[in-house]
Amino acid sequence: MQNALNEPQTIVLLGGTSEIGRAIVDELLSVSTQTLVLACRRPDEAQPERFAADGLHVAVEYFDAAATETHDGFVRKLAAEHGDIDIAIVAFGVLGVQSQFDDDPHAAAQAVHVNYTGAVSTSLAIAAQMRRQGHGQIAVLSSVAGERARAGNFVYGSSKAGLDAFAQGLGDSLAGSGVKVTVIRPGFVHSRMTRGLKSAPLATTPRVVGELAAAGIRKGKHTVWTPGVLRYVFMVLRHVPRPIFRRLPLG
Ligand SMILES: NC(=O)c1ccc[n+]([C@@H]2O[C@H](COP(=O)([O-])OP(=O)(O)OC[C@H]3O[C@@H](n4cnc5c(N)ncnc54)[C@H](OP(=O)(O)O)[C@@H]3O)[C@@H](O)[C@H]2O)c1
Repeated sequence: MQNALNEPQTIVLLGGTSEIGRAIVDELLSVSTQTLVLACRRPDEAQPERFAADGLHVAVEYFDAAATETHDGFVRKLAAEHGDIDIAIVAFGVLGVQSQFDDDPHAAAQAVHVNYTGAVSTSLAIAAQMRRQGHGQIAVLSSVAGERARAGNFVYGSSKAGLDAFAQGLGDSLAGSGVKVTVIRPGFVHSRMTRGLKSAPLATTPRVVGELAAAGIRKGKHTVWTPGVLRYVFMVLRHVPRPIFRRLPLG
């Protein structure tokens, strides 16, 4: 249960090694937090000691976003072992390489499965648990790539467009239930996911995304753009004619 200052007692990070997810956790942790669950497909890489603090139990659980048939049972097990989930952060995702997807449709489908289908099934399982509790908040890592698909990463962008629409609808469906959904829409972030790629305009860091996302989560916002100015940039970009849009140097 979150206290009067909106400080969570239990946080679950799905995609427990995500640099952005971990930066959000850093900002959400407080002396009130009793349990942090790092849910990852490679538990050996979770480094739970990085979050060590007095009174905080850090658990590492095996979780595969692609194994949708396991998600409901996984969330029920989390609640049975760790109690009510106050905040769940859906941070897993794969970027992939568009030129490889062009020649390997199965790999493209697998990436979409993790980013979209896996996030749908995980979020629905968490939402059901939070409805049973009568409270909770789900933060979903979308992307500005879903605002308008680009030729350079349209498989990834389309998966995030689907996820973003899903998360908005989920949030609206939960209105009045005590459960909230916050959609986080970062631009280009210098994390493991983008290492070696050419930076894009208004690029930022996991720490900045963590600060803005956590502030938005605390306020119960339905959408957080990181950085905030991207909201206005995309208001314009959404309406730029296609022949011009495809020539823009957006990274
Ligand atoms: N970086 C950016 O520019 C950017 C911009 C906008 C949105 N985002 C989104 O923000 C989220 C976090 O990205 P990040 O930058 O923090 O990248 P990251 O450090 O590479 O994190 C991605 C996470 O997804 C996990 N993952 C991938 N496939 C999985 C699966 N099948 N099951 C469970 N976990 C899986 C990875 O686990 P492993 O450690 O096992 O690989 C990793 O923990 C992603 O959803 C991403 O799409 C990122």
